[in-house]
Amino acid sequence: MTTVAKLFETMDYGPAPESDAPALEWIKQHIGGAAGFGHFIGGRWVPPSEGQYFETINPATKAVLARVAQGSKADVDAAVAAARAAASGWAGLTPHARARYLYALAREVQRHSRLLAVLESLDNGKPIRETRDLDIPLVARHFYHHAGWAQLRDSEFPGYVPIGVVGQIIPWNFPLLMVAWKVAPALAAGNTVILKPAEFTPLTALCFVEIAREAGLPPGVFNVVTGDGTTGKHLVEHPDVNKIAFTGSTEVGRVIRKATAGTGKKLTLELGGKSPFIVFEDADLDSVVEGVVDAIWFNQGQVCCAGSRLLVQEGIAERLTQKLRARMEKLRVGSPLDKAVDMGAIVAPVQLERIRGLVEQGVEEGAKMWQPSWACPTEGYFYPPTLFTDVSPAATIAQVEIFGPVLVSMTFRTPKEAVELANNTPYGLAASVWTENINLALDVAPKLKAGVVWINCTNLFDAASGFGGYRESGFGREGGREGMYEYLKPEWENGESSSPRGVAPGSAARDASSSADPGPVAWGGGASLPPIDRTYKLFIGGKQARPDQGYSRKILAPDGRVLGEVAEANRKDVRNAVEAAHAADGWGGSGGGHMRAQILYFIAENLATRTDEYVSRIQALTGGGSEAARREVEATIARLFTYAAWADKWDGAVHHTPIRGVTLAMNEPVGVLGIAAPDEFSLLGFVSLVAPALAIGNTVIVVPSETQPLAATEFYTVLETSDVPDGVVNVITGPKDALAKVLAEHDDVDGIWYFGNAAGVKAVELASASNMKRTWTSARARDWLDSRQAEGREFLRRASEVKNIWIPYGE
Ligand code: NAI
Repeated sequence: MTTVAKLFETMDYGPAPESDAPALEWIKQHIGGAAGFGHFIGGRWVPPSEGQYFETINPATKAVLARVAQGSKADVDAAVAAARAAASGWAGLTPHARARYLYALAREVQRHSRLLAVLESLDNGKPIRETRDLDIPLVARHFYHHAGWAQLRDSEFPGYVPIGVVGQIIPWNFPLLMVAWKVAPALAAGNTVILKPAEFTPLTALCFVEIAREAGLPPGVFNVVTGDGTTGKHLVEHPDVNKIAFTGSTEVGRVIRKATAGTGKKLTLELGGKSPFIVFEDADLDSVVEGVVDAIWFNQGQVCCAGSRLLVQEGIAERLTQKLRARMEKLRVGSPLDKAVDMGAIVAPVQLERIRGLVEQGVEEGAKMWQPSWACPTEGYFYPPTLFTDVSPAATIAQVEIFGPVLVSMTFRTPKEAVELANNTPYGLAASVWTENINLALDVAPKLKAGVVWINCTNLFDAASGFGGYRESGFGREGGREGMYEYLKPEWENGESSSPRGVAPGSAARDASSSADPGPVAWGGGASLPPIDRTYKLFIGGKQARPDQGYSRKILAPDGRVLGEVAEANRKDVRNAVEAAHAADGWGGSGGGHMRAQILYFIAENLATRTDEYVSRIQALTGGGSEAARREVEATIARLFTYAAWADKWDGAVHHTPIRGVTLAMNEPVGVLGIAAPDEFSLLGFVSLVAPALAIGNTVIVVPSETQPLAATEFYTVLETSDVPDGVVNVITGPKDALAKVLAEHDDVDGIWYFGNAAGVKAVELASASNMKRTWTSARARDWLDSRQAEGREFLRRASEVKNIWIPYGE
């Protein structure tokens, strides 16, 4: 008699094909007699204005699936106009009304889930097992979750309003999932959308149009323009788009960062990665092997957060390699519609060539390559799972995103070495840590430069948990509360430009070479002796430092008298300050909130004892009355108290993701922040930016008001007497815009805040593209005395990165 045990031995896999007929029929029906799919603009299908179409193919068979419209500038213009026309109506709905639409979208997705799953597999080449069990359920989950945020928008985000018209550009690796990640939060927040799907995989986005119609979404709220990168470029450059959200390559992300610089468009970028998969020697190796399968062979490795660098503790490296090879031998590559395959096809020939080229380069550079003995199907674009060992950390394949089923493996000895190796790329998207020792895992997780850390798991996603990167993996988060903020802005930004109640910038500074020099002004109440000459130096690494080039500039009172001289910093001084700020990174250590609060209180206390001195100093700088100056000093003290209060309260969250375990959203400092402070409110503006940055644990290099720096330079002595560790605050005086640009260009600066003029905003945003540092810029006057505009959560969010750490539990 045949036993079940025997069947396990003797039976081979049989194919379990899914029919492509309903999806092909949908395509046929949909196009009807037309030349191909049109764009969806203002609630209608419209043919491309220039009559151009391109083909989308099935990468597993090379068969043409459909022709799709190529979007021109005119098409993009029409879509933006439709989105603009719908914007106020959509934003004007009640949160509950928008929630109903999002709920309807979720239900519609579920109703058509099989059609969407098959269409996705056909167009992308990914296995139906993945589209059916992961992509499409997550799409529905995203709309459900965001129906909730739509409902709660006003109560959970008071003081915030939608941004307006949003352009969204998405890649081909998770075509419909990216639609959901982008569209759900945008609509929930009350924005209208123009979506540009990737040229390789437009079909599910077009199918989603039908879903939006069935859900009754009002015309113009959701528009789709298909096309290639040039269509995306038109969308990015359109002057009436308020925000661009992009997922794709770091290369294109950088182009978009530059194109939007200085335009006032908000921007989020979800870019590439080279994520580490770290295995400590006490890990459960069988689980690790399955984890690796998920990390790098899921979606053929075409995953931005793929665990593409296997870092293994030396003692177990050989055993793990053997186990992996055995597992790879059993993986099945084949028709994406076969439910028994593990890997489908690579999306397009150009991607296949890229993978081949990089693998060849890996071999040439001396790494050892291994592939299973079986052969891939030859009729489509397939590539086998590939493992590299003996890889040097500097090798091309260890640094470059391959975006294919290729794993590179390296070894380490100690946890410290593992962290160093893990962080040794310009990216910072995700990481995965495998160990049975939870203490070790939770010690390592915060040290990894990554937006997501999975402990003993990998590639878990959920709408409730933010996803997004550090460093060159981009900025902004998608999902959860964090993601909602990316589609909202503070309400006051909609109002009239608020005129600060201080003295207008520049009014205190006159041409330093002015011939009529009425002589120095005494600080405070008219001394009879001439004041002791004071030249303010720079403040670097806790010390007052002379500037590199030995120049200083005169600072004048509004009546032209010389108030003092400040050092003129240059590029070299910026470098020294960045070095000092890095050396002080212990400031951001976990558990330091209480200590940081104490120091911020101490700064406030020391400033308070010198209130009168600062009042007369500000008076001299601005030429204003003592009451206004006193108000500024008092507000500065109060602001320091605010951030001392926040320092131990800027808690993270535990997200309710559908795993047996917890997902910890931890707020971390951005790192080293460059800050160009506003010219007005030279004390309050300076402290309003520095204090939140410090509260979260950042170290800063600040360029104070260019025209009125003397409050900031005098502040050195307050810092010196308040136990602020050396290097935590560095102040460099001089030409603000030029210094801000140097900071923005510096690869060791993690973020830059700039408050100044429009030209400065543009220069800083352009320069920031070098290492994709996060920027916060404003050329808009802000009332620094108004706590709604000048303090609170908005500032704290800008000063933090959210890291989501997934920790499953149970045996
Ligand atoms: P890509 O970044 O060129 O394409 C992504 C999207 O951007 C597509 O919709 C494309 O049409 C659009 N686009 C291209 N140029 C544009 C421009 N100048 N302005 C506006 N939109 C533009 O990615 P591609 O060429 O498809 O893949 C190349 C490499 O990028 C891959 O090998 C992979 O390494 C990486 N990649 C990373 C992704 C991620 O999720 N991190 C996703 C897709 C690709």
